[in-house]
Parts: sequence; structure tokens; C-alpha cells
Amino acid sequence: MGASTKEFEERIAAFLELRGRHVVATNTGTSALHLALLAAGVGPGDEVVTTSFNYVADHQAIRMTGADVVMCDIRDDDLGIDCEAAAEVISKRTKAILPLHFAGIPCDVDGVYRLAAEAGLRVVEDACHAFGTSVDGRKIGSFGDIAVFSFDPVKVVTAIDGGAVVTGSERERDELHRRRLLGVDRDTVERYKNRRAWEYDVVSDGYRYHMTNILASVGISQIKRAQEFIASRQRVCRAYGAAFGTCDGVRIPAADFQGVSPFIYSLRVLDGKREALIAHLHERRIDAGIHFVPVHKHAYFASARRGDMTVTDRVVGEVVTLPLHSNMRQNFVDRVIDGVLSFFR
Ligand SMILES: Cc1ncc(COP(=O)(O)O)c(C=O)c1O
Repeated sequence: MGASTKEFEERIAAFLELRGRHVVATNTGTSALHLALLAAGVGPGDEVVTTSFNYVADHQAIRMTGADVVMCDIRDDDLGIDCEAAAEVISKRTKAILPLHFAGIPCDVDGVYRLAAEAGLRVVEDACHAFGTSVDGRKIGSFGDIAVFSFDPVKVVTAIDGGAVVTGSERERDELHRRRLLGVDRDTVERYKNRRAWEYDVVSDGYRYHMTNILASVGISQIKRAQEFIASRQRVCRAYGAAFGTCDGVRIPAADFQGVSPFIYSLRVLDGKREALIAHLHERRIDAGIHFVPVHKHAYFASARRGDMTVTDRVVGEVVTLPLHSNMRQNFVDRVIDGVLSFFR
């Protein structure tokens, strides 16, 4: 870790148009989630509410703090947290709420912050899918409580591997700095100059979660092209929407992609035909994926406290992730569109 890590953090701050907020880069999004929850004061005996329709990194990060996972249902439109469902599972032990901006599309941010204010909860936004997405003209991370990003290999902006926490608190920034490097105090300034301080104190628990210069330099080269990547992905998502919007057998994402940094394109296949569509696409050598297997179905989390899962249980049987990458060639886009439409013809 050194000067490139600092430059990457500064470029993230500039890209997100942060004012008076701080970026702390880490080696993965998962470690960023862990540190963010610790900074929010989450620990043993606490509960954190998140959705089952989410990547298991969130649930494991909650467990790493010693807190318990509580899962609630999602909304049928943006597939983000259903705040009424979240309110139903809040208990005296609930410390924080961890909403996901699925596929890069913002969740019900107003509802989340209203609920958090009413119940006195911290908010850690999982913005791992949403680097560059705006809500009412403000980039996610530039407002609110704590936000977490991932720069892993498949993200819109990658550092090969990496993550970042954004907080508005200087105290939390300092705590994040310490915990990202084994609890070492007052070392970050030296390291940002590519120097090691040989006299230091260790003042808290900590992890080896820092981002290296080499990976940060990849992140720097990527973030310079973020607008281009996002715009190219928006074009593909809109082409998919135009092609599939009139197809009876599917439901397209509830977004026009204005202000959205699209991570994946998640189509919903109705009438139990998803597996047949995936097989049809594979026959045409078109890969498709599924995000996500619901976490309450995984053995380790099956006994975690949870609310009603009606929407989640239905949606996880409908979603299929179609090919999407930055600067995708038009003939690939056309092949995917033709592959899907030929199934329904
Ligand atoms: C929703 C979500 N949260 C967290 C993560 C964890 O990020 P990372 O892979 O950088 O650890 C991912 C990674 O795919 C994710 O999709």
C-alpha cells in the first residue's frame, strides 16, 4: 500500500463528487463490508437486517463482526429492500440495516433512511453493484451514512480485486485506516508516501485488508474510463429493454438506466420458463447466469431469523443474467437479443 492507493482513493472521491467525506480502499468489497460494519459499531449481540436476495458476502461480513444476520423480503419492482418488511423484523438488538442496490439500480433510499431515522439504526449501503449510480443527481456514496464499493474482476470499474468504504466521519475514517492494517496507529500517512514507519503502536484489533499499490494502479487506469464504460453499458441495457419490453414472457428491469451504472442485466422470465430459456441460450453458445441463490436457502444461514420471503422466493425462480460488459460489440448484443426472442417466437 502506498501513494497509488491514496491516488485511487482521491480519484474515487472526485468521481463520486464527495464533499467532506472520506474513502478508504481495501483489498476486497467483502473486507470493506466487514470494516464498514465495525465502524458502524456492529458487534456481538447485535443484529443487522439485510435481504436474502443478495450476495452472501454481506451475510458473512455481518457474521465476521459477531453479529446475527436477520433477513427480510425485497420489493417486486427494483428488487431492493422492502422497508415495510424490514420494519417488521427490527428488534431491540438491531444495530444497522444493510440494503443492496441490486444490479446498479438504486433501492428505496428514502425509505431506508426514513426507517433508519425512526428506529435509530446505522445504514451501511452495499453499493458494490452501483459504482457511479446517482439518486436524484447525487452519486451513491456522496450522501447518507456509510457506503461500500467493490472493484473485483467483474465490476464496472475493477482493480482486479479491491473495495472501498465511504464515510462522512473523520473518526470512522481513522478507525478504518487502523483496522485495514492490523490495528497499526498513525502509519497511513507514511505509507501513502511509500514509506514504512518502523515505530508504531498497535491500538486496536485489525486485519490485513489494505489495497496494494499495484492493484490501485489498475483501479486508477480503470476509473479514468468509468464514464465510457457506464455509457456503453447503458446503451446495451436500453437495447435489451427496447427488444424485450414488448415480449410477453419476460419482465425487464424497472429502470430507464438514466443515472444508473449497470453492473448486470437481470431479466425476469415468467411462467416457470427460466431454465428452458437458459438451456435454449446455451445451445446458441450464449452464457447466462443467475443472481442470486437466496441466502436463506444456504445451509449456514437457513436458521437465521427472517421475515416473510414471498417476493424473494418467487423472484429467485425468475431472474436470469444476460451477457453485459463494457464496450460490448453490437453483433454480440444482437445475438443475445435474437437468442432470447427466438425462444419466445
Ligand atoms: C452485492 C455484493 N456485495 C458484496 C460483494 C463482495 O465484493 P468482493 O467480490 O469485492 O469481495 C459482491 C461481489 O460480487 C456483491 O455482488
